[in-house]
Amino acid sequence: MANLEELQKKIASVRKAIQSESSGLSDSKTVYELRKSFLDKAGRVGQLMKYMKEVDPSQRAEFGKQVNELKGWALDYFNSLDEKMRKEELNRIYEREKIDITMPSHIRSHGNLHPVTQVRNQLIEVFSGMGFEIYEGTEVENDYYNFTALNTPKDHPARDMQDTFYLSPEFVLRTQTSSAQIHVMENEKPPIKILSPGKVFRSDDDATHSPMFSQMEGLVVDKGITLGDLQGMLDVFVKKVFGQETRTRLRPSYFPFTEPSVEVDVSCFECGGKGCSFCKHTGWIEVLGAGIVNRKVLENCGIDPDVYSGFAFGIGIERVAMLKYGINNIKQLFESDLRVLNQINDR
Ligand code: DAH
Repeated sequence: MANLEELQKKIASVRKAIQSESSGLSDSKTVYELRKSFLDKAGRVGQLMKYMKEVDPSQRAEFGKQVNELKGWALDYFNSLDEKMRKEELNRIYEREKIDITMPSHIRSHGNLHPVTQVRNQLIEVFSGMGFEIYEGTEVENDYYNFTALNTPKDHPARDMQDTFYLSPEFVLRTQTSSAQIHVMENEKPPIKILSPGKVFRSDDDATHSPMFSQMEGLVVDKGITLGDLQGMLDVFVKKVFGQETRTRLRPSYFPFTEPSVEVDVSCFECGGKGCSFCKHTGWIEVLGAGIVNRKVLENCGIDPDVYSGFAFGIGIERVAMLKYGINNIKQLFESDLRVLNQINDR
């Protein structure tokens, strides 16, 4: 027979073991393992019950009560230890992941649109505000659309103005977006008001010319369209793109598909028209070609020139970009040198 006092010592030593063995623990996982080793069925607290048989029957109730007390105490002990560990763990995570919101942030550099795209978008914005619709043609074009239908038949001297890349006797890389005029007029009847931006190609290469560049063609056809309408519209466009003080001037010129044809100058935005090196001391800068659509072109597209008239214009987008941003070599627009491109951001 074991006496109760001895067994009470065993109970006390299990309690001590719980306290000492848990004292160095620092996370909830090891607390959980230790708890299992004491409180599982086969755990060290439960094992005390096996002494029951050895206890004098008159003291069994007391012994059982004391073991249960230990169990109750151990449960509370491990619960509060677990809670403490979880709190500490959370604090460690908070500490590790702490963000100092007063620190300056990393400055992220971000790109901007290419100057040619900026000008293209700006022109589209201005003209769509006036009701123009976009028509995009193709870069490979039939000789007929690029030349013949635009009143420039084979052997016409005006073909020399455009150094054409021929893909075959029939097909060319389009030299001008003017070909879009023919496609639109063949398929739509007046009133017509379209804008056609796109790449064009010419065998030409110097500081202001590149074999590939971009143009934007405009075409308006309706009853009673005159050169006055063209000038009024250009005035609005030029002020929006080059500044409110800019004035326009039309000079006689020649294009086979317009009659009369004009070259459009704007007052120099560097010197305000007084004359400087930028405008070669003339006070004016040439920006685009335009004119009244030649009767023959309307006829070629099945539009009666006695009923309808129209104006057309063609703008070089790189040229506008060079003028606006003071770029004196067109190559700078194609070299993708970030030192240049980073300086040009209009929006
Ligand atoms: N296509 C001409 C060129 O590339 C530009 C041009 C001039 C277009 C007069 C037009 C125009 O529509 O009316 O040089």
